[in-house]
Amino acid sequence: MGAETLTIIDNRTGRQYEIPIENDTIRAMDLRKIKVSDEDFGLMTYDPAFMNTASCKSRITFIDGDRGILRYRGYPIEQLAEKSTYLEVAYLLLYGELPTSAELKEWTWHITHHTFIHESIKKVMDGFHYDAHPMGMLIGMVGALSTFYPEAKNIFDKDCRQKQIYRMIAKVATIAAFSYRHRKGLPYAYPDNDLSYTGNFLNMMFKTTEVKYKPDPVLERALNVLFILHADHEQNCSTNAMRSIGSAHTDPYSALAGAAAALYGPLHGGANEAVLRMLNEIGTLEHVPEYIKRVKAGEFRLMGFGHRVYKNYDPRARIIKDVAYEVFEVTGKDPLLDIALELERIALEDEYFVKRKLYPNVDFYSGIIYQAMRFPVDMFPVLFAIPRTSGWIAQWQELLEDSEQKIARPRQIYLGAQERDYVPIEERQK
Ligand code: SDX
Repeated sequence: MGAETLTIIDNRTGRQYEIPIENDTIRAMDLRKIKVSDEDFGLMTYDPAFMNTASCKSRITFIDGDRGILRYRGYPIEQLAEKSTYLEVAYLLLYGELPTSAELKEWTWHITHHTFIHESIKKVMDGFHYDAHPMGMLIGMVGALSTFYPEAKNIFDKDCRQKQIYRMIAKVATIAAFSYRHRKGLPYAYPDNDLSYTGNFLNMMFKTTEVKYKPDPVLERALNVLFILHADHEQNCSTNAMRSIGSAHTDPYSALAGAAAALYGPLHGGANEAVLRMLNEIGTLEHVPEYIKRVKAGEFRLMGFGHRVYKNYDPRARIIKDVAYEVFEVTGKDPLLDIALELERIALEDEYFVKRKLYPNVDFYSGIIYQAMRFPVDMFPVLFAIPRTSGWIAQWQELLEDSEQKIARPRQIYLGAQERDYVPIEERQK
């Protein structure tokens, strides 16, 4: 193997440059010395949507899109889904190691004892219309938390930052459940500290007149697995938003609101809601071939299919499909599953999808499970945001501790008008 460098010849000048290769990348700033004259700004890279650009060095999540591999801190997602819990995985993402029993106990105690939200938050929440989308409420409420904890701006004070981390992971579930209760016109069900993270979330969502809510253990476990699978996914769109906002040293609540806003998009975390709307629109098995035809005609996309990184089956979709059957044992099977399975069967055989390496992604089956668990469709992106909160925070914390990082400020290729003088309105032509 030769030297770890690129030799570039600029044919405009005949000059030759040696550019070092590190971690299979070159530094874009090394291209700036490639100029045609001393006054020249130098070369940049142009990469809309960052299709081939690494924005950071990270040790949190590893994805191999061709081999369908996903690991959190080196642990395969399949093992974590089978053996871990969401809170344990949140700890792993944030601190890099699986917690000891004592560490997990302390971690769980802190999260459990930060689930309450300030009573004034309820007044803010009550200001939303009865039919406000819960994701819009979550984004607003998480941003509002920055006004209740102004000390969160001290992002380099480790103890202060740690307390905000407990608060964000704990309170995002409470805010999510309260948003649902507001939509349904139900009184808020307060946290129950005797329950697990997912058990308490089910309690805050579905408790009615019983004195003490008892979560179904199968559903509590299924939610744990779903939350583990959604906890992080390296530099996806919403994590990029979290890092970009965090790079300005904004408080973490405001950065979190921005990340949740990015996740809300139907091409990202809003896809699970879009999948259910698509399955309901298809309606019956007989309509599947016609729908596929319209997708191939480019009328719309097959929601829950395709991925920027995975050009193979999303490993999370495989696990979620297994969880679906466990949930249906308790809730009864959702007829939409047959439509989803038929869509998948056709898509995995059809040249249009095969050529574009379009496979089911994390959002394809998750919505069917959530619907079977009685979550309304518009709660699905919220159910994505709850666990992704720990991934966003882990990535944000890694950014703050990375001495190479600065405020994110991309360049551009300017193709607009050259300099010209102001034209008085009476002289302007149509
Ligand atoms: C998530 O990044 C992450 O890690 C995200 C995520 C995470 O955990 O954070 O994994 C969560 O966001 C999963 C993705 C959920 N989104 C959807 O299911 C929406 C439907 N899928 C897409 O729109 C699309 O596949 C993306 C957005 C996920 C990825 O898009 P890319 O990588 O930008 O691919 P592309 O748009 O360039 O598409 C390449 C080709 C195009 O066809 P041609 O122009 O070459 O003819 O594939 C086609 C696209 O039209 N295509 C699809 C398709 N997805 C891509 N055609 C039909 N149905 C689809 N779903």
